[in-house]
Amino acid sequence: MKTMTLLGLSGSLRKDSFCTAVLRTIQDRMPPGLELAIHSLAELPPYNQDDDGDAAPASVRDLRDAIADSDGVILISPEYNHGMSGVLKNALDWASRPFGQSALLHKPVLTMTASPAFTGGVRAQLQMNETLAAIPARTVLRAQTVIGAVHEKIQENRLADPVTIDFVMAGVGQLRDEIKRASDSRAVEPRQQHVA
Ligand SMILES: Cc1cc2nc3c(=O)[nH]c(=O)nc-3n(C[C@H](O)[C@H](O)[C@H](O)COP(=O)(O)O)c2cc1C
Repeated sequence: MKTMTLLGLSGSLRKDSFCTAVLRTIQDRMPPGLELAIHSLAELPPYNQDDDGDAAPASVRDLRDAIADSDGVILISPEYNHGMSGVLKNALDWASRPFGQSALLHKPVLTMTASPAFTGGVRAQLQMNETLAAIPARTVLRAQTVIGAVHEKIQENRLADPVTIDFVMAGVGQLRDEIKRASDSRAVEPRQQHVA
């Protein structure tokens, strides 16, 4: 069976970011047949429609290519002032274009948030899902993956809380299932059109 390639994007640029640590944990624990590449958002400029189109900056083209080449995407963001980080929103704005041809269009996406607060960034995740609905990406529908008190669950840049690890990895499994469903529905679409 072909290996599925996932792309991980963290909304935090912080060196010791808890969010990025969660992605690294997933990377370490990928089940057979799945791999995760983490793509940094550090080089992306602030979105400017004047710079979009054929002349889009190299970092933007790299991001779009990385998304297009992946089978599915994992997004994780801290909560900044009750919203997703500006870093992630900026990346999603770049990735959302060209309009109607976004690399994220119908792409299976798993969203997660993490915060030292018990709320785990749940408000940020609502915003992420709303932004993904605008594209629209194919967001995995599950109980929200919000990691509260994350500072108590990270050791040596990895998630160390077994219950949280299990819940996060179950989400990755659901992303894999969503990728399969998306692929199966693409395979039957032409026949359905023919019958109609
Ligand atoms: C500007 C700023 C705003 C923040 N606002 C919130 C917030 O609204 N809710 C929350 O739960 N945490 C908030 N925090 C705390 C972050 O969730 C926390 O710093 C988190 O660890 C950042 O993610 P990281 O470890 O991946 O960098 C805020 C932090 C910063 C720097």
